[in-house]
Amino acid sequence: MEPSREHSHAPGQSLWPVGLAVGVVALLVGFIVSWPVVAVGAAITLIFAYLWIRELVAGNALTEPAEVVVPETRANRSAPPKQVPALAELRAGTPVSRSVFLELSTLGLGGVIGGLVTLPVLGFSVLPAFLKQGVAQHDLGPMSNFPAGEYVITSYTSDASQGFVSRRTAFVRNNGLLGRLPSFTIMSSRCVHLGCPVQPNGEPQSAHEKRYKDVTLVPVMPSGFGCPCHDSQYDNEGNRTSGPAPRALDRYSYSIVNGHLLVGSVFSVAYVVGTGAQAEIHETGYAFPGEPITGLESWLYPLQPPH
Ligand code: FES
Repeated sequence: MEPSREHSHAPGQSLWPVGLAVGVVALLVGFIVSWPVVAVGAAITLIFAYLWIRELVAGNALTEPAEVVVPETRANRSAPPKQVPALAELRAGTPVSRSVFLELSTLGLGGVIGGLVTLPVLGFSVLPAFLKQGVAQHDLGPMSNFPAGEYVITSYTSDASQGFVSRRTAFVRNNGLLGRLPSFTIMSSRCVHLGCPVQPNGEPQSAHEKRYKDVTLVPVMPSGFGCPCHDSQYDNEGNRTSGPAPRALDRYSYSIVNGHLLVGSVFSVAYVVGTGAQAEIHETGYAFPGEPITGLESWLYPLQPPH
C-alpha cells in the first residue's frame, strides 16, 4: 500500500531567530562592556523573541509547504486530496504539525536555557547593588576639632576587626554653615588614577596633631593635592588639574550626630563647580580608580564587580 502525500503549512525561514540570537550575543557582550549595551541587548532579545513567538502563533511565517504522509487506505484511494488547514486556521484543540511543535519546543527550551544562564549572572552582578550594604559610619570626633576653612588630615581605622590594614585617610574641611546646617568637604586620599595615596601640597602641621579614640587629626593648609605615583594633581575642591586621573577625587558622605562628625560611604565625583559650602558637586555612585564617569569612555568602560 503506497502512502499518499498532502501539503500543510510548516514554519519556514524567518529573520526573527537571527535577531534573537544577535540580541542574546549583545546581552552577553554587554555584561563585559557596559550596562547600556546590556540594555540594548535585552531590548533586542525581547523584541525579536516577541516577534518570533507572535509569528509562530499567528502562522504568518514565511513558510514552505511541507509534506504530510497519510497512509493510503481503501476509503481514501479514490477521494480527492484533502487540504490540511494552515496554522492560522487551526482552532483550539486541533493538533499542530510536528515541525511547528518542534520549533515552539526549541524556542521554549532555548528560553529556559537562556534564563538559567543569565539569571544567576544578573543575580550576582545586579542584585547586590540593590541590597543594603550596611556601610558603617565612623565617628571622627567633635566638630570643634575641625576649624572652619581649614583642611584636617584625618586618619581612622574603618574596620576594627581588620586592624591597621583598614586605616583610611580623608581630607576634611569644615565649610561653615550652609543656611543653618553645617557643611563639610570630606575627600578620599585615594588617587582616582590607580589608587595611590594622594598627599596635600603643603606641610602638615604635625605639632598641632590631635587624637580622638582611633582618629588622628593633623591640620594642613594645602595648595591642592598631588599624587606621588604618576603626578596627578587636584585643586582644593578635588578637581583634577593635571595628570592621568580621569575625574575629581572621591568624597565621603557624612552626618552630624550629637555634635560629632560621622563619615559614611564613599562616592565618586566627575567635577566640582564652585567652592566650599556653595560648591556644586557632580557626583555618581561609586567608581573604581581609573574609571571615567563622564563622556564616551564611561559608556565603554568594563563593568566592575559590586563595591
Ligand atoms: S596613581 Fe595617582 S597618578 Fe597614578
